[in-house]
Amino acid sequence: MAIKKILYVTSECKGFAVSGGLAEVAGSLPKAIMKANRNYKVKVLMPLYKTIHENYASELTLVGSTTVVLAWRSVYCGVYTIKKDDVEYYFIDNKYYFDRDQLYGYYDDGERFAYFSKAVFAAMEIMKFYPNFIHTNDWHTALVNVYLDVLYKKQGYLMDIKSIFTIHNIEYQGIYDKFFLENVIGIDETYTGILEYNGLINLMKGAIVCCDVLTTVSPRYAKEISTTAYACGLEHIIRINNQKLFGIINGIDTEFYNPMTDKALKYNYDIDNFSGKLENKKELQKALGLQVNENTCLISVISRLVQHKGIDLIIERFHDIMKEDVQFVLLGTGDKYYEDKFREFASWYPGRVSTLITFNNPLSKRIYAGSDLFLMPSKMEPCGLSQMIASRYGTVPIVRATGGLFDSIKDYRNDGNGFVFKDYDSYKMLEKIKEAVDLFQKPEEFVSLAKKVMAVDFTWNKSAREYIEIYKNINKK
Ligand code: GLC
Repeated sequence: MAIKKILYVTSECKGFAVSGGLAEVAGSLPKAIMKANRNYKVKVLMPLYKTIHENYASELTLVGSTTVVLAWRSVYCGVYTIKKDDVEYYFIDNKYYFDRDQLYGYYDDGERFAYFSKAVFAAMEIMKFYPNFIHTNDWHTALVNVYLDVLYKKQGYLMDIKSIFTIHNIEYQGIYDKFFLENVIGIDETYTGILEYNGLINLMKGAIVCCDVLTTVSPRYAKEISTTAYACGLEHIIRINNQKLFGIINGIDTEFYNPMTDKALKYNYDIDNFSGKLENKKELQKALGLQVNENTCLISVISRLVQHKGIDLIIERFHDIMKEDVQFVLLGTGDKYYEDKFREFASWYPGRVSTLITFNNPLSKRIYAGSDLFLMPSKMEPCGLSQMIASRYGTVPIVRATGGLFDSIKDYRNDGNGFVFKDYDSYKMLEKIKEAVDLFQKPEEFVSLAKKVMAVDFTWNKSAREYIEIYKNINKK
């Protein structure tokens, strides 16, 4: 079979620039696809952010440069490359757009990612990489699917490129005023209908309409996003494009997250040497200023502190949770209201509650390893990776049955791998926490559940093969 080439386009990627789960996926799926089938060659393309310049100055190699036209602008575009763990990464360089302290959050994000999306086509020429498939992710790269359809598919070899668009979170759609079409995107107004939605320009909608295949990050979320409660206004568009929508659950990088080899841990462990987990727990209690007591159940939350993660439920029932014989640790940053609330809780329960308003990867791994239960009561969760990472470290997840949490965690009572509640209701969550803490009091049963949780296969193997099936079948359309 001839080699099939995929250009994987992303706004973030682990190892280079990270803000959330998309970076984890971009950092592991391309590798997993190539491992699953040697006939597939994936190259990753992303913006050259300031931190990448700083951290990889000596490794970045210039491939070439050109000028990109974005509506009335003519803008510089450089392309750099790095090879890392057998994957070729390419970066689009434009200091005006990307030499900033953060990845996102600027008044001109729309223009920055419209530029990036347009530059993708210039980069392919510079890279001399003519892919069979372009795979894009979330609103930042949504215009790639649109440009391909309305501008480039009309020309030469680009005619045969198929495009895949993956929704990691439908909440962020890239919505702009109508002037954006002419002033920034720069496409003919005959195409307004593709991007227009509710009187505004909606980039995600454009990609959903233009892509050949639409995927999202779990089967359950694929169903949820055709409903008003989950689609953030796009349910209608999802429904009419439903025949090309597939839900494929993410995996995790089980080499990076491996308690047996993880250098962030003081004591390495696996199912057969499980006592190391307990040592990590005591170590963590000491480090966080919690009472060192192996018999107290340690519950952790590692999350962005935003509404859809279900933080409100935890706040509502916090004092009830603390009536149990438990300790609580929270790691994450986000909305100031939530940050302050958890700081307040820490001051109310000295020695029992630890609040860490930061994000720090080695520390997060010590928390995954050192806790007994991992709480993730999300209101919406397209896939969720933390429940899988926690499981990998033998920490039993308590989740709400939504999106990828529904697909990856089944309730203990049904012979499952965690504790699951259905309704978005803090009392339902509390019930499950109590059930889990009760089980924790029966060490033998609890350890056997923890080991079972740890043995669940959350590698990319199966999902990578599902993506390959999608690529294979696209041409039949
Ligand atoms: C987004 C979603 C999260 C998912 C991740 C990777 O961050 O909110 O649920 O796991 O993307 O697909």
